[in-house]
Amino acid sequence: MGKQSRRKKERTPGEAKAARYLTRVGLPDRPDPGPYRRLAEADPEWFRLVSKADEAALALLERGDAAPDQIMAINQARYGLLYQDLDTALAEYASRPVMIAAAWLRWWYDHHPPATRLLDVGCGPGVLTCAYGLALPDAEVVGVDVTPDAVVCAEELAARVGARNVTFVVDDALDPSGELGEFDQVVAVTAFGEAGLYPQHPPAGPDAFSSVADVDGPGLEFRSPGIEHVVSLLSPGGSLLVFDRTGAASQAVRLGAAVLNAGVDLDLRQAGGEVFVEEGHPTTFTRFVGTRPSGAPSTSGAALAAWLKAAEPPAYGEAWTDELRFEALKASGAERLWGCEIDYSPHSPMIERREIWTDGDDSYGWIATTLGLREFMTGQAPQDLWQEYTRYAVHLKAKGLEVRFYED
Ligand SMILES: C[S@@+](CC[C@H](N)C(=O)[O-])C[C@H]1O[C@@H](n2cnc3c(N)ncnc32)[C@H](O)[C@@H]1O
Repeated sequence: MGKQSRRKKERTPGEAKAARYLTRVGLPDRPDPGPYRRLAEADPEWFRLVSKADEAALALLERGDAAPDQIMAINQARYGLLYQDLDTALAEYASRPVMIAAAWLRWWYDHHPPATRLLDVGCGPGVLTCAYGLALPDAEVVGVDVTPDAVVCAEELAARVGARNVTFVVDDALDPSGELGEFDQVVAVTAFGEAGLYPQHPPAGPDAFSSVADVDGPGLEFRSPGIEHVVSLLSPGGSLLVFDRTGAASQAVRLGAAVLNAGVDLDLRQAGGEVFVEEGHPTTFTRFVGTRPSGAPSTSGAALAAWLKAAEPPAYGEAWTDELRFEALKASGAERLWGCEIDYSPHSPMIERREIWTDGDDSYGWIATTLGLREFMTGQAPQDLWQEYTRYAVHLKAKGLEVRFYED
């Protein structure tokens, strides 16, 4: 390994701030399931109840027709267990949600608009809320969550990290019983989707991504009274920042449309996607950013549709399966990825292998596949496949991941 490839990548201010903040909270910036596993071993009955609650939540969402109040009830039962105390909440957070939070924080620190009153919708145990409070010491930061145990944990976390300008409220942010007041920044990270605002699964059909048709069709008409309520809490000119799980194009369309149809002017230059590997499956998350205009919004549905259709890989279609594989390697901790194309021959054995290993502070990923297999699967000529791989390499390099291809 040469000196150059060992050189540390320069971090943006946001990356450095996110790393410092997570250390302050006692969280890793990559998933570490160790503490959660130890909790499960120490209290098997608690873990049995968590697993049962997970299964019940999944079964309800898979039905596809669950009402928001059913989803909320089942989620509250599940979160009641996960947020039974702050240390449990943080152990669970470290096991997986931290990868989403860390990526979000890196973006937020570098791009967030100014704020005097910020609302964090679905704040959970307050990890993000306290980060906003510490970063904006002159602002008033409010976290709202429908699960009372979340708010107990969040209050303890705020005291632990010294975030004195942060308060928390137990309420349904989408249909509140109390008055939250007006805000000039509202942030919702993995909150709207959980509240059942749009179908979690695309309609069944021969092609899992056929719901891309929603981009030009019914998806753009989608409205959410809950999101409309949240938008009504914004002062004119105030910003809405949303980051949510959008495993299928249909969900991204509905999320974008719900925000747009609630009267938010989307700034599509700030929209983006990130892929995280959850339980072995790469899942695309989408970020939408916009402001509540004083007059009529000027973003059109056509502009949202055009953005979604042109979204950079990894995006919303089967065509990016290879890209998602590389992202899966990266999310598993690979900092350098060595891609080996071996043994091109129409008769070569059809193999594909992937491995990750670490050496000191570095993690390496390795993927080997026969070009013959790819040619067979995609019907593309070898020279086109090479061009495709070169494009992946350029794209991933721009994201800070080194890619090398070797022909042997
Ligand atoms: C996946 S957690 C995300 C926590 C936090 N935003 C983060 O990313 O660290 C989702 C949270 O949203 C809360 N939630 C779901 N529906 C809600 C609603 N209608 N109003 C307020 N909170 C809600 C849940 O109780 C849960 O704590």
